[in-house]
Amino acid sequence: MSVRITVCQDCCCGTVKKHPTTNHFSHLRRLREAAAKAGGTVRISQCLDTCETSNVVVVQASGHKPVWFGWVLHDDAIADLERWLAAGGPGSPVPDTLELHRITPPGLRAATDGAE
Ligand code: FES
Repeated sequence: MSVRITVCQDCCCGTVKKHPTTNHFSHLRRLREAAAKAGGTVRISQCLDTCETSNVVVVQASGHKPVWFGWVLHDDAIADLERWLAAGGPGSPVPDTLELHRITPPGLRAATDGAE
C-alpha cells in the first residue's frame, strides 16, 4: 500500500507563531520517515481551511477515504501516527488515542452541520 501524507504548513499549521512549543521540523522529518517505510510520500500543503484544528495532517491511500487529523502538535500524536502507519494506515483501525485527533474535512462540514 502506498500512502500519501499531506502536512499543512501555512498561516497556522507549522508556524512557531501559533504553536511555539511544537517541534515542527522534527515532526515533519518523522512523518517523512514513516511515509517512506510505508512506501509513501509526504507533501506540504497550503492552508486546508481548518486552522482552528491546526496542525493538520491528512493521510491517504488508494482505495480508502482520506483520514484527517487535527491538533497534531505533540510527540505523542506523531508516535501514534507512526504506529498506525506501520500497522497499515488507512483501512486499518485507528487507535483510540489517534481517534481523538480525527477531524471532519472542511468540505464535508456543511453537509453534516445541523443534520439530525
Ligand atoms: S494553515 Fe493548516 S488549516 Fe490553515
